[in-house]
Amino acid sequence: MKKAEELLKKYNQEHIIPYLEKNEELEKQVLKIDFEELNKLCLKARNLRIEELENIQPINAINPDKLSQNEKEALIKKGTEVISENKLAVVTMAGGQGTRLGHIGPKGTFKITIGDSEKYLFQILADNLIREGKKYGVTIPWYIMTSKENNQDTMDFLKENEYFNYPKSELFVFVQEEMPLITTEGKLIIEDGLIKEASNGNGSIFASMEKAEVIKDMEKRGVEWIFIGSVDNILLQMVDPLLIGVTLNDGSYAASKTILKNAPNEKVGVFCKENGKVKVIEYTELPEKLSTELNEHGELLYGESHIMCNLFNIKALKRAATQEMQYHIATKNIAGVSCYKFEKFIFDAFNMFEHISILRGKREADFAPIKNKEGVDSPKTAVELYKNYWGI
Ligand code: UTP
Repeated sequence: MKKAEELLKKYNQEHIIPYLEKNEELEKQVLKIDFEELNKLCLKARNLRIEELENIQPINAINPDKLSQNEKEALIKKGTEVISENKLAVVTMAGGQGTRLGHIGPKGTFKITIGDSEKYLFQILADNLIREGKKYGVTIPWYIMTSKENNQDTMDFLKENEYFNYPKSELFVFVQEEMPLITTEGKLIIEDGLIKEASNGNGSIFASMEKAEVIKDMEKRGVEWIFIGSVDNILLQMVDPLLIGVTLNDGSYAASKTILKNAPNEKVGVFCKENGKVKVIEYTELPEKLSTELNEHGELLYGESHIMCNLFNIKALKRAATQEMQYHIATKNIAGVSCYKFEKFIFDAFNMFEHISILRGKREADFAPIKNKEGVDSPKTAVELYKNYWGI
C-alpha cells in the first residue's frame, strides 16, 4: 500500500489515495502504471503539432488487372499451397470501442439485416472462414483479440451462439493491452473504485499476442503466415491466395491489400514511402495539395488506402512484438470529461521492415466497413455492397 501511495503522491494523483483502502485490485493497478511514460505522453499531448512529413513519395501497388493470366495463376498457386498446408492463421481485431457506431456491446455482436436473414458481424467472419477452410480442406486457426472492457461480453456471446459452428479447438480469444485514461488536466479517473483504462489501439496487437502466448501457439501449430483484419468490414477477404502469393514472390515478410481512395477527402489513411520506408499517413495529416495530385493514369497519387487487410510472416510478428510502437494522441469526451486517449496503430509496424508488398484490391470486393450509425460507412452502405458482391 505504501508504495502505491508514494507513487500517487509523486505523480500528483493524490485524489486516488482514499480509494486504496482495502482495495487490492486498485493497488495492483497503480503499481503497474508506467507514470513516467504517462507524464511524457501528457506533455506531448499538450504540445501536439502535426508532424512534418519528411521526404515522402508515392508507393507502387501491384495491380492484379495488370498481371497476365499466367502470372496471376502462378501467384495464386503459391498462396494456395500455404493455405492447403494449414500454414495460414487469421486474427480478428475486436478490441475497439466502436464509439462512432454507438452499438451497446462489442462491435462483433452488432446485427445486420441482409435480405431475409439477420447476421452478427462475428457470424459473418465465422461463416467466411468456414467456407474458405472447406475450399482448401483445412480448418483455419482463428484468433480474436478483445479488450479488457469487452472480453467477457464477447466470450459470453460466442458461447451463447455456439461459436457460430467454428470448431472450438481452432478458436482462441485473447485480450489486448490497456492504457489508463487521463483527463486533459492530467488526472487519472476513478470509476467503481478502479482507475479507468481503455484499450490502447490496434497497434498493441503484436505485444499483446506475444504476452498472451498466441505467437507461441501459432508456432506450435506450424503457422507461418498470419492475416490480421478488422471486425467490421463485411467484405474482408481473410483467406487470399493472391495476397500470399505476391508476398512470397516478393520475398517480403509483410503485406497489405489496399483499395484506391474514392475522393481526395475520403477519410482513410493512405500509403506512402517516407525516407524509403513504408508508412501510412492518416487522412488528417495528408496535406491538401498532395491529397488531390494525380499520377499519369489519372489516379490519386496518394490514393492507396489502408483498409486493415494485412498479412505478416510469423517472423515479422515476433520482431514487431519486441519493438516499441509510438502512441498517437486523441482528445475525446468521455462521459462529459475531456480526456486524452493514447493509441498505437497497427500500420506503424510497417516501417520495421525493409520491404512490404502492396496489392491493390477492389472496393466492391474488399471493403464494406461499418463505422458510423448512418451515412458513409454505415450498416446501410455496407449491406448494399455485401448484397451486390454476393448477388443477393
Ligand atoms: P477503429 O479504429 O475503426 O475503431 O478500429 P473502432 O473501435 O471500431 O471504432 P471507433 O473509432 O471507436 O468508432 C479498427 C479495428 O481495430 C480494432 C477495432 O475493433 C476494429 O476492428 N481495434 C481498435 C482494436 O482491436 N483495439 C483497439 O484498441 C482499437
